[in-house]
Amino acid sequence: MKDTELVGVQKTLSPVLRAKALDNRLPDPILGDEYAERTMRRLDPDYDQRRFGTSQLGLSAVVRAKAHDDWARGFLADHPDAVVLHLGCGLDARVHRIDPPATVDWYDLDYPSVIELRQRFLPPREHYTLIGSSVTDLTWLERIPGGRPVLMIAEGLVPYLTEADLRRLLTSVVDAFPTGQIQFDTVPVWAWRTSKWDPTLRKYGTRFHCGFNDPASPADWHPRLEYVDEAPMNDSPVLMAKAPANVRRVYRLMNLLPGMKRSTRIVRFRF
Ligand SMILES: C[S@@+](CC[C@H](N)C(=O)[O-])C[C@H]1O[C@@H](n2cnc3c(N)ncnc32)[C@H](O)[C@@H]1O
Repeated sequence: MKDTELVGVQKTLSPVLRAKALDNRLPDPILGDEYAERTMRRLDPDYDQRRFGTSQLGLSAVVRAKAHDDWARGFLADHPDAVVLHLGCGLDARVHRIDPPATVDWYDLDYPSVIELRQRFLPPREHYTLIGSSVTDLTWLERIPGGRPVLMIAEGLVPYLTEADLRRLLTSVVDAFPTGQIQFDTVPVWAWRTSKWDPTLRKYGTRFHCGFNDPASPADWHPRLEYVDEAPMNDSPVLMAKAPANVRRVYRLMNLLPGMKRSTRIVRFRF
């Protein structure tokens, strides 16, 4: 199977994977994900041959991945008995990058066709389960052991959900576990509203379905849910330290435009 057999929003996993693969070829990578490079090469052997193939402008997506990894490592260090729900996992190798102890049970969830690709390209491991389902069909949650701390990670997923579906997801996760951390990224309302004209999303035949001007606002949906903080993305110190000079220049210019520094908001909640 190739990514040509993926449809619509499933195809959005490719540019993120390509960014991670290209990052790994920097002399001092931000994420340093060898799995991404190997998987990308198998998915598309010519991934670096096209017009924008060698561009590193996707590096902010790599910064996002690093922020999620850092938060996840912190949570798992404090909760070695946790259950991890990695939702909309695409072909991201987070479980291998983080390499949690055997006391952690990790679940990667995405559409069945994406999970099938994962099975071909990424290795299995102990205490690691793949779930092929839409995240909005919450019956998958019944398969997860409760009574333990939960870490929910949704990288690059939430803008593709409707607000109603996101709300049902978050409140169901909070109701199902005694304590936990929920981390995801969102876009502001302007990015959601204009997404129907976004050339990349149009190419994949998809668009965003929700956005938040106050990314802390989902905390209002459940009395136990509390907003913690936000990680920087387009102006992140690691991007400015490690991206090639031409890429840093583009981001510096872009960040002068209103709203661009926070065109994606990486946020963390706890309960
Ligand atoms: C932008 S990609 C991000 C992939 C991965 N998290 C990463 O950062 O590399 C979005 C992913 O969300 C998945 N996705 C979108 N809507 C979904 C849904 N309703 N249920 C399950 N997965 C979904 C897509 O199939 C895709 O793999």
